[in-house]
This record gives sequence, C-alpha cells and structure tokens, in this order.
Amino acid sequence: MAEQTFLNEINKRKTFAIISHPDAGKTTITEKVLLFGKALQKAGTVKGRGSNQHAKSDWMEMEKERGISVTTSVMQFPYQDKLVNLLDTPGHEDFSEDTYRTLTAVDSCLMVIDAAKGVEDRTRKLMEVTRLRDTPIITFMNKLDRDIRDPMELLDEVETELNIACAPITWPIGCGKAFKGVFHIHRNEAILYQSGQGHTIQDARVIPGLDNPELDKAIGDELVEILREELELVVGASHEFDQNLFDKGELTPVFFGTALGNFGVDHMLDGLTQWSPSPMPRQTDERVVEATDEKFSGFVFKIQANMDPKHRDRIAFVRIVSGQYTQGMKLNHVRLGKSISISDAVTFMAGDRERAANAYAGDIIGLHNHGTIQIGDTFTQGEKLKFTGIPNFAPELFRRIRLKDPLKQKQLLKGLVQLSEEGAVQVFRPFINNDLIVGAVGVLQFDVVVQRLKSEYNVDAIYESINVATARWVSCKDGKKLDEFKRKAEANLALDGGENLSYIAPTMVNLSLAQERYPDIEFHQTREH
Ligand code: G4P
Repeated sequence: MAEQTFLNEINKRKTFAIISHPDAGKTTITEKVLLFGKALQKAGTVKGRGSNQHAKSDWMEMEKERGISVTTSVMQFPYQDKLVNLLDTPGHEDFSEDTYRTLTAVDSCLMVIDAAKGVEDRTRKLMEVTRLRDTPIITFMNKLDRDIRDPMELLDEVETELNIACAPITWPIGCGKAFKGVFHIHRNEAILYQSGQGHTIQDARVIPGLDNPELDKAIGDELVEILREELELVVGASHEFDQNLFDKGELTPVFFGTALGNFGVDHMLDGLTQWSPSPMPRQTDERVVEATDEKFSGFVFKIQANMDPKHRDRIAFVRIVSGQYTQGMKLNHVRLGKSISISDAVTFMAGDRERAANAYAGDIIGLHNHGTIQIGDTFTQGEKLKFTGIPNFAPELFRRIRLKDPLKQKQLLKGLVQLSEEGAVQVFRPFINNDLIVGAVGVLQFDVVVQRLKSEYNVDAIYESINVATARWVSCKDGKKLDEFKRKAEANLALDGGENLSYIAPTMVNLSLAQERYPDIEFHQTREH
C-alpha cells in the first residue's frame, strides 16, 4: 500500500518550464495556469508589483525598480488528478544562465509564441538548450484576440526554424475582433470564446462535430466555411500527434488561444498533463537513476541569494530525481563527502515559501546554503553519485571588472570565483594580462554581482567595456596539439573561475577562424561541472 502511494505520488507529477521571447505572454499564461490550479483566487497577482505577497530582498527591489516581474521560482499546483510543478524561467533583463539551467531540471517545456510575431530570437535560443536533453515541447500560439499571422505559416515556421514537427490539436476560428474560438481536432468539437472573461474560468459553449449546423449559426457562414476548408487542409498536410515522437522531442502538439482572455490555456493544460512525461530517469557518472528508485537523490540547478531579507543566506534549488524527501532526513553532500541533516528545506507552493514536510521525485526543494553548495552538486541518501547534464553555458555579454581600491584584488577574485561557482556569472583571467573579465548570459547579472561583491565581500568594483563577443571552453584529446594551440593562441586564452581553459573571441568571425585553423581543438558552448 505504502509502495503504491509512493509510485502514485511520483507518477502524478509533471514538472515543466515555459520558454518564450519576452512579451509573448509567459507571465500572463502563468497566471491563468495557476488560476486553473486553484492556486490563486484570482489571476493577476503573479507579477506582484506593489503587492506584499513576495519577500522583497535588495535585489528584488532592484528588479522592481526596473519593472521586471517578480515571479516566484517554483510553483506547484494540482490539476485534475496530476500535480504540476512549474519552474520559472527569468525572461526579461533578469534573463540569466539560470534560465538555461532550469531547462535542464524539467521533464517538458511549454513554448509560448506570440502568434502575431512567430518564432523570435530568445525562443530559438531556449529551444536550442532544450535540445541538449531532447525535452518534449508543447506549443501555445498566443494572442489570438489580436490579428495574427496565417496559422499554417506559423506551423511551417516552427517546423523549419526549430526543426520540430507540429501536430495541431486545436485550430483557431478567426482572430482579432473576429476571434470566435477554436476547433478541438482531437475532441472533434468547437469551443467558443467569450471576450472579457480573462479573470475567470469560463464555462465555454461547446458544439460537437464540424458539420453541425449549430456551428454555422454560432460563428457565421463565412468563418465556418473557412474553418472547414482549413481543417481539411491541415489534417491532410500536418502531422498527427504521436506520443513516441513527442517523448523524443521530435514533435510538438500545438494549441491556439489567448492567455489574456484565458482561452485555450485549459486545452493546453489538458494536453500537457496527459502527454508530458512523469519524472524522467537521469544519468549519473555511475548509472541511470530511475525516479521510482526508493532512495532519495537530486541535483542543484540554481542558487539564489537573499530571497528573504530575514534569511540572508542563499537557497540552493534541488531537483529531486528519485525517492522522497522527508523533513529531518540525512543527506549525503556527495562532492564534500559530508552527511547533513536537512530539517528545514523549503518548497514553493503557489508563491509562498513553506516548510516542506514531504516532497517526491519531480519536485523542487530549496536548501539553505551558507556557501557550501554549488551548481551541479548531487545529494543522495548515501550513494556516491554525480548527476551529469547540468552544464555551465558560455556567456554572451562581457565586461572588464576593476576595483576602486586596488588593494582588495584578493577579495575581488575570491568573490568572483565563489559567485561563478554559484552560477551567477563566469569569470575569466586572460593569460597575457591581469584583466578580470566577467561574462554573463543576462545583463542584470552584472549589477547583481557588483552589489553582492559589496555586501558579501566588502569590495567596491566597477565595470569597463571590453571588446569580447563570445567565449568557448576548449579541450583537445591530443596533449601535444593542445600545447601548440596554447602557444599560438595565447593572446586569446584565459582560465575561468574553475581553472578551465577558455578561448575569448573579440568577434564571432575570430571564433570561426580559430575553429578552422585548429580543427583538432574542440570549442564547447557548455561545460559540465
Ligand atoms: P512575458 O511574461 O512573456 O514577457 O509576457 P506578459 O505575460 O507580461 O505579456 C506581455 C504583454 O502581452 C502584456 O501586455 C500582456 O497583457 C499582453 N498579453 C499577454 N497575452 C495576451 C493575449 O492573449 N492577448 C493580448 N492582446 N495581449 C496579451 P502589456 O501591456 O505589455 O503589460 P501589462 O501592462 O498588461 O502587464
């Protein structure tokens, strides 16, 4: 019986994140998803501007000043007979390496696309990251209450630009002012949209069957004719949903709707909870760990400082891979070879930090961290394992960092190395000079680093611009060739915070020339911890 409960608990969990370009509607859809999860009384409180719901740390204040949405990190809510974990992926200026790494901690992703715009830059990049694990993708075409692009063209663009087949599950009936709803291809019914109901769960009118005369009456002759024609074409020309291809990340079910109007979000959630995988097995250096393994195991994918001013410590976010967490249990911090008693892990139920009595594979728990936990660390119930696939990502923005007081060089370096171990930024020390180069994925990280250097390491630092376009970690199987490369390319080489050899390129062209010139050297965009 107990075992049955344990298996049920794990199998009902669905852990996902949202990938989208800024302004496509991630925050809005999160609000509606939580509304369906009954996690919020009334949608519209996730952003929390001016609300007292969220602990406001110094740098959350900073985020607020800049008008960045202060979303919670992990939200758990029930949906039908499932338990859903939605992991936040910072998207605006707070975009960072954490965003990428969060995608390595989920079992599926929801891709939200602004249907007036189509596939945008950030989505492309995030999709690339999900390809590292071939994560299953569900697609939501948003903003149907506006004039959108031709839906067929949108599917085509997703297929060609993101290299994933599209299986439309719903199909839009009109758009903009003429948006009437969607036809649910799988359920063979039309679901009609009512505007102005965005803050509630709508009791939508449903008309079964495409040839139902009721439908002609409800949406008008012209739209119904277009719908029938389009559907004939779509069903013939596009892919059917295939669970196997979806699981492999080769095919995405596509839903249409409007997050703002709270229409279509439930269709997407139905699909997500039905099709997306329960907690998946994970690779370690030793063996594959199944979610249903009895013993607890998990890895750290994100570290966040100062979430709560009452606790000045950091929180390490652990994705539970197998087993169950219970309060007070002893865990092995594998890298340090230390057993620690975890009495006060936190979960993130619908925006509030609560003490977690129990958590299962698929869930996220937060461990209080006084600097001993790093990104990529593994926790187990004793076994010496190291989870793989939680990489560092090559930074995309670079600045030289300089001290106001040159005597504090040691503290500066120590702070930077620790912050890079935590995954906040990367730091590079060139071979040929004494520069310290800070690299980040998102621009806010630079300010966060300066602020944390001041408050935690008592150093005043400032940035200067530097002519660096990109960085790659380098390796070579042939030691001799690597030595030769080190000699010849010295001017572009540096060590990162973990003493790993890195190539610093002033331009993308310089990088491709180097790659051509040194074919035996491998240039990596990610680096395992
Ligand atoms: P993001 O988190 O992906 O950046 O997007 P967010 O949800 O904040 O949405 C960006 C803007 O798009 C918001 O408007 C939001 O109201 C709007 N939006 C989201 N979904 C829909 C939709 O289905 N239809 C329409 N018409 N608009 C939608 P804003 O004016 O920039 O912000 P706000 O003042 O409403 O917060």
